[in-house]
Amino acid sequence: MGVLDDRVVCVAGAARGIGQAAAVAVANQGASVIGLDLNTEGLATTTELVEKAGTRMWATTCDVTDRAAVGTAIDSGAEQLGGVHGLVTAPMVFTPMSFLETTQEQLMRDLGVMVAGPMNLMQAAVPHMQRAGWGKIVNFGSVAATLGSARHASYAAAKDAVRGLSHVAAREFAADDITVNIVCPVARTPSADVSAGDLGPNGWDLIIAQTPKGRIAEPEDIAGVIAFLLSPASDFVTGRTLFVDGGMGSFW
Ligand SMILES: NC(=O)c1ccc[n+]([C@@H]2O[C@H](COP(=O)([O-])OP(=O)(O)OC[C@H]3O[C@@H](n4cnc5c(N)ncnc54)[C@H](O)[C@@H]3O)[C@@H](O)[C@H]2O)c1
Repeated sequence: MGVLDDRVVCVAGAARGIGQAAAVAVANQGASVIGLDLNTEGLATTTELVEKAGTRMWATTCDVTDRAAVGTAIDSGAEQLGGVHGLVTAPMVFTPMSFLETTQEQLMRDLGVMVAGPMNLMQAAVPHMQRAGWGKIVNFGSVAATLGSARHASYAAAKDAVRGLSHVAAREFAADDITVNIVCPVARTPSADVSAGDLGPNGWDLIIAQTPKGRIAEPEDIAGVIAFLLSPASDFVTGRTLFVDGGMGSFW
C-alpha cells in the first residue's frame, strides 16, 4: 500500500531525467502515471519502469507549448486512468548563451517551454483536480535564476517567471485543496551535463566544490522530494520553493 494509491499523476517531461525519476517514485507510492514528452522512445522506457513498479502508465507524445494538444492529452489520460490528482511540469530546454548574444527567438523558446508549458499543463489539469477535490502541482525553478548563473539569461528568466506563476496559482487554488510548489533541483541529467560542460571540462568538479553535500544528486534524489510534495504529508505546504541542491544555492 502506498500513500498515492488510486491517485493519477501527470508527469510532463517524463521521458528522462527528473521527470522519469518522478514517474517511477510516484508509481512506487501507488500512483498511475499520465506521461507526456516529445521523446516517444524515452516514454516507452519510462512506461516499462512504471509498470515494473506495479502501476499503469498512459503515455503520449505531446509538445507542452501546444495548448490544445496538452488539453487533449490530459483529458484522454484522465479518462483512461481515472482523473488527475497530481501534476509535475518537468520539460526544459537549455542553450548556454552570453547575455548580449541571447536572441529574441531563444528567449521566446525558453519562455514557451518553461512558462507557457506549465501554464498550459496547469490550466488543463486543475479542472480535474477541482472535480476530485484534491490536487498537487510541482513546478521547477532553478538556482541558475536565484543565483544568476552566467550564460543562462533566457533560461533563468523562464525559471523565475514560473515561480511567479506558481505563487498566483497557489493562492487561487488553495480553497480547492490544490497545492502548488516549486522545486529548485541540481541533479545529473542530460541537460545539466550541458550546463556543467559549459563551465569547462571540469564543470561538475567546480559545481561539487560549491555544494556543501560534496556530491551531485541523481534524479532519484530529487524524485523523493517531488513524491512528498504530491502526497498528503505536504497538504499544508503551498506556494513554497524547495531547494534540493545539496546546500549549494540555499544559504543566502
Ligand atoms: N537537472 C538539473 O540540475 C536542474 C537544475 C535546475 C532546474 N531543473 C529543472 O528540472 C526540470 C527537469 O530537468 P531535467 O534536468 O530532468 O531535464 P532533462 O533535459 O533531463 O529532461 C527534460 C525533458 O523535457 C522534454 N521536453 C523538452 N521540451 C519539451 C516540450 N516542448 N514538450 C514536451 N516535453 C519536452 C525532453 O524531451 C526531456 O525528456 C526542468 O524544469 C529543469 O528546468 C533541473
